[in-house]
Amino acid sequence: MLLQVNELRKTYATGFEAVKGISLQVNKGEIVALLGPNGAGKTTLISTICGITNPSSGSVFIDGYEISKNFRDARKLIGLVPQDITLEPFEKVLNTINFSRGLFGKKKDDALTEKVLTKLSLWDKRDSRIMELSGGMKRRVLIAKALIHEPRLLFLDEPTASVDVELRQSMWDVVADLKKDGVTIILTTHYIEEAEAIADRVGIINKGELLLIEEKASLMQKFGQKILKVELQKKLKQLPKELSEKNVKLSDDGLSITYIYDTKQKKTGITKLLSNLSNSGINLRDIQTDQSSLEEIFVNLVREKVE
Ligand SMILES: Nc1ncnc2c1ncn2[C@@H]1O[C@H](COP(=O)(O)OP(=O)(O)OP(=O)(O)O)[C@@H](O)[C@H]1O
Ligand SMILES: [Mg+2]
Repeated sequence: MLLQVNELRKTYATGFEAVKGISLQVNKGEIVALLGPNGAGKTTLISTICGITNPSSGSVFIDGYEISKNFRDARKLIGLVPQDITLEPFEKVLNTINFSRGLFGKKKDDALTEKVLTKLSLWDKRDSRIMELSGGMKRRVLIAKALIHEPRLLFLDEPTASVDVELRQSMWDVVADLKKDGVTIILTTHYIEEAEAIADRVGIINKGELLLIEEKASLMQKFGQKILKVELQKKLKQLPKELSEKNVKLSDDGLSITYIYDTKQKKTGITKLLSNLSNSGINLRDIQTDQSSLEEIFVNLVREKVE
């Protein structure tokens, strides 16, 4: 086992408890995605595991090294891509990367630098200053920086925030390649699609607690939902009887109907829904579908519990 986290807690100076006793074990070569809404405690958990934030209690072992007692040995094994972009604006890309390797007491390795920058499509930007890069490029520089000392355990805190769709795909490829090289990866994201694309296991964090951590396949079964939104031509006061099912809802303004369905089921129920609409004499204006983001699913789950 590469990472072992035991009953980790973090209470900030404000008295706010951001991590409430999280335990977690990650094997070598695994990719774990941590999903959770804003403020769930993902960044706090990662910073505490990496030894950047001190825990209030609990312990973290990385390949047997306890982070608080053997910080240098443990830290060498870790690469961290922070959520916030922290780069020196006037520095050139190449220097930024090489300097980072030096921090870990490792000699410059030109072949490795070229390999890492090429993989992240940054090689032609090597002589640009950080301030001359776009947001997505800066995020890739952060990744290159985290990889250049050849860590065994890589943390990616929202690696694809501000990254366009095409590039997002290529970053997933980078992650898959790293896995092939035996690197263990823990990443945070808001998007279930992202977890679905790259993770072996998915953990869900909410309000400082790890609600569950499971193999991706079984989680997708539970959360793989889509939302169908039907816009209506005329305002509807209430749903006709044929349509009053649990997962069909009329919007407050009466102008649209949403239907949540499970993408993993053979019968999605869409045909039935549409024919019921037409039988009830309801005319449609437009139809769209949306993959529910984790936040929406969360909101629905929490709401259901309250009701
Ligand atoms: N330095 C700090 N002092 C006090 N409270 C903090 C501090 N840093 C974070 N928090 C609080 O801890 C909670 C968890 O924050 P954290 O940044 O870990 O969430 P997150 O899951 O990473 O959210 P996001 O998805 O927005 O990045 C939030 O309520 C936040 O306000
Ligand atoms: Mg965060």
